[in-house]
Amino acid sequence: MNADVAHPDPQARPVKLAPSLLSCDFTRMADDLQAIGDADWAHVDVMDGAFVPNISFGLPILAAARRASPLFMDVHLMIEAPERYLKDFAAAGADGLTVHVESTPHIHRAVQMIKELGKKAGVTLNPGTPLEAIKPVLADVDLVLIMSVNPGFGGQKFIPQSLDRIRTVRHWLDDLGSPAELQVDGGVTPQNARAVVHAGASCLVAGSAVFGADGPRAGLERFREALK
Ligand code: DX5
Ligand code: ZN
Repeated sequence: MNADVAHPDPQARPVKLAPSLLSCDFTRMADDLQAIGDADWAHVDVMDGAFVPNISFGLPILAAARRASPLFMDVHLMIEAPERYLKDFAAAGADGLTVHVESTPHIHRAVQMIKELGKKAGVTLNPGTPLEAIKPVLADVDLVLIMSVNPGFGGQKFIPQSLDRIRTVRHWLDDLGSPAELQVDGGVTPQNARAVVHAGASCLVAGSAVFGADGPRAGLERFREALK
């Protein structure tokens, strides 16, 4: 039997859905936030044009999303030296802050800073970065994010090798007895969602596959159907 197509067991690991606001309609972000109101989290992609080759949005947009929605604001920082801004993003309404190991020589300090701010601490890494880079902070974090595309843009194709990376980190977390979320971000669709969950993910980020032509409610429903 091919393990990748085996059915995930939603009872064993309830799967969180985190629509990415990067793909929402910014002229009506409050409406889109309302439409995804029964999702688990809102994923907020912050890009600085330096760590990644794209600029998305920053503090004022997070603050506006915070005012418009009670959803858990899951902030993915794709910025150089994120320590400079952790306090500001916490103040603007982040519930969780996820930092890239490649973005700072002080990943341990960054994780500790997030915890001291009373927020959920996440660590992530690009598809080309060896998984070992997250090991020194693995026992400290509330979330590990496996990037399944090179960060910077929505609408890219899922990199198939990501499934092995998810499996490896799932084993590491289980060996530690860690309850940390294992999140996957990039090219996640209703078509590959089961395989991603089966590999060990507990939280799926999806942008373009949620905010499609027929709107985010229909997009979310397709994920729910796929994960039944
Ligand atoms: C990519 C971002 C993602 C992005 C995902 O750099 O981190 O969160 O919004 O978009 P999709 O789901 O369209 O690949
Ligand atoms: Zn993201």
